[in-house]
Amino acid sequence: NEADKGTYPFYMLKEVDEQPNVMRKLAQTYLDAAGKPEIDDKLIKAMQAADRLYIVGAGTSYHAGLIGKRLFEKLTNMPTEVHVSSEFAYEQPLLSAKPFFIFLTQSGETADSREVLSNVNEAGYPSLTITNVENSTLSREANYTLLLHAGPEIAVASTKAYTAQIALEAILAKALGEDMGLAIAKDFDVRTQLGLVANGMQAIVDEKDKLEELSNDFLMDTNRAFYIGRGIDQAVSLEAALKLKEISYVQAEGFASGELKHGTIALIEKGTPVIGIITQAKTASLTRSNLQETIARGAKTMTIVRESLANDDDDLVLPDVDELLMPLLSVVPAQLLAYYTSLNKGLDVDKPRNLAKSVTVE
Ligand code: G6P
Repeated sequence: NEADKGTYPFYMLKEVDEQPNVMRKLAQTYLDAAGKPEIDDKLIKAMQAADRLYIVGAGTSYHAGLIGKRLFEKLTNMPTEVHVSSEFAYEQPLLSAKPFFIFLTQSGETADSREVLSNVNEAGYPSLTITNVENSTLSREANYTLLLHAGPEIAVASTKAYTAQIALEAILAKALGEDMGLAIAKDFDVRTQLGLVANGMQAIVDEKDKLEELSNDFLMDTNRAFYIGRGIDQAVSLEAALKLKEISYVQAEGFASGELKHGTIALIEKGTPVIGIITQAKTASLTRSNLQETIARGAKTMTIVRESLANDDDDLVLPDVDELLMPLLSVVPAQLLAYYTSLNKGLDVDKPRNLAKSVTVE
C-alpha cells in the first residue's frame, strides 16, 4: 500500500526518500523516449494565447510557484507573476489583458486557492491546476489539470509535492517554450536533467548520517536560524526556512542575502546559525561575502553548494544539474535538517502542532 509507512518511523522521511522516484515517474509520464513533452496541445495553445501567467498557491505550493516563475520566464519569455492565494483573493492585482492562471496545490482543496479560482472562473479567464489529487475541487473547477503523480503525501510538512511541482513546471515550461519555437526551450533537455536530478537526490538522501550530525551541531540548541541566498536560491531559502519552522519550531527566516545588511544583520549575534544556499554562478561569490559578514558578527555558518561552485570547506556539496533545476537538489538537505531537528527534539514530525495537511477554511 502506497500510503503505508512501512519501516519508516515517520511519513516525512519516507516521502523525502521517494523523491528520486517521483522525478523518474514525472519524466516517464510527461515525456516521450526522445524527451519531447507529451502535454495536451489545447493546454499549450491556451497558455500561448495569454500575455502573462499568474501562478497562485499557498504555503509550500506558493514556494514552488516562485521557482516556476524563473522556469517560465527563462524558457518561454512569458512574464510570470506568483501570488499567495489568501492575498490575491481579496486584493487582486491589476491583471494583464490576457491572463492565464496556474494553481499549484498538493491537495486541490485549499480554501484560499479555491476562492481565487472561483473569482477567475467568474471573470472567464483560462486556468490550469497542478495537483497531486485527481478529482479534487481545484482540479474539477479549472479548465485543465496536470497531476503530480507523487503518491499520497501524508506528513503535514510537504516535501515530494514541492519537488514534483517544480519538475512538472519545468516540463510544462519546456513544452510551451518549444511550441513557441524558442531555442532555449529546445536545448533544455529536461528528460536527461530529471534523470540527473533523481540520481542527485538519491546521493543526498543517502547522506542521512551527515545531515543528522549537522542538525545536531547547528540547529538543536537554537530557537532561531537564517537561510540565505540570492535569486532562485533565495526562493529555496523560504521553503527551507518553512520546513524548519513547521516541524522543529525553530524561528527560521529565508532571506535575500544582499538584503541582510539593510537591517536584519542586526539580529546576528554569537552562535546564530546562518545557512547559505549557493547554486547560481552569477551570485555565488556575493552570497559567500554575505556569509563572511555574518561570521564577522559571530554567526555559525553552514553552506549548501553545488559541486562546480564548491570549495574544500563547504559543508554540503550538491551534484551539478542545470542551474534552473538546482532547487530540486538544494531543498533536500533542508528537508532532512528540519526532519532530524524535529525528530531529535522528540516532536511529532508528521503532525506538528497547530497545523493541518489541507486547510479548507479561509
Ligand atoms: C497547508 C499545509 C502546507 C501546504 C499548504 C497548501 O497549510 O500544511 O504544507 O503547503 O496547506 O496546501 P496545498 O494542498 O494547496 O498545496
